[in-house]
Amino acid sequence: MTDSTTENASKKLSSLPILIGIGLIIGFGVIFLFEMLQLTRPTGGLDDQSVSAESYLADVTPLLANADPQRGFELVKNKGCLGCHGENTNNLAPAYSETHREAANRRPPMTAEGYLYESIMYPNAFKVRDYITNMPINYADSLTPQEIGDIIAYLLSPLAPTS
Ligand code: HEC
Repeated sequence: MTDSTTENASKKLSSLPILIGIGLIIGFGVIFLFEMLQLTRPTGGLDDQSVSAESYLADVTPLLANADPQRGFELVKNKGCLGCHGENTNNLAPAYSETHREAANRRPPMTAEGYLYESIMYPNAFKVRDYITNMPINYADSLTPQEIGDIIAYLLSPLAPTS
């Protein structure tokens, strides 16, 4: 190996940490931007000042017209809601037995129907208390309006929850 090829090789080697540094900066930049976009995503729910007894009633009342609590119960079993909201889930989320009892008192003067609708459609709008998980924000897109009505009817039903 001549002197100059050794020199070239060592030049290449010495620029390696710089390249790694630039790579890391770009990587972290992308992650930072992504997180900012997530944080600035609007919650969509109502702020406390605009909460009233009528909040969401116009949206939720039609969903409840043909709602079936039994279908709602099947849905919360099949969609994995009970994985967080069942009994003995180690405080991952409020148990549905508590939600059933407390929905009408969670966010006065909002009605139980309005509150449950908001909880499913805009989970970030109101915090019950701190949990180690978050209510997933995408259920609003993966449930049909009828299914959302069925789940709310189930949570409001005098018989709910059954497990
Ligand atoms: C990964 C765990 C998780 C899953 C799965 C989940 N949730 Fe939640 N849910 C939460 C947490 C945590 C809260 C409390 C959020 C808060 O207070 O900020 C919550 C809150 C709620 C509330 C309000 C409860 C109350 O007592 O005030 C309702 C209603 C609700 N979820 C419905 C659902 C439905 C319906 C599904 C399934 C389609 C579901 N959740 C799936 C974690 C989950």
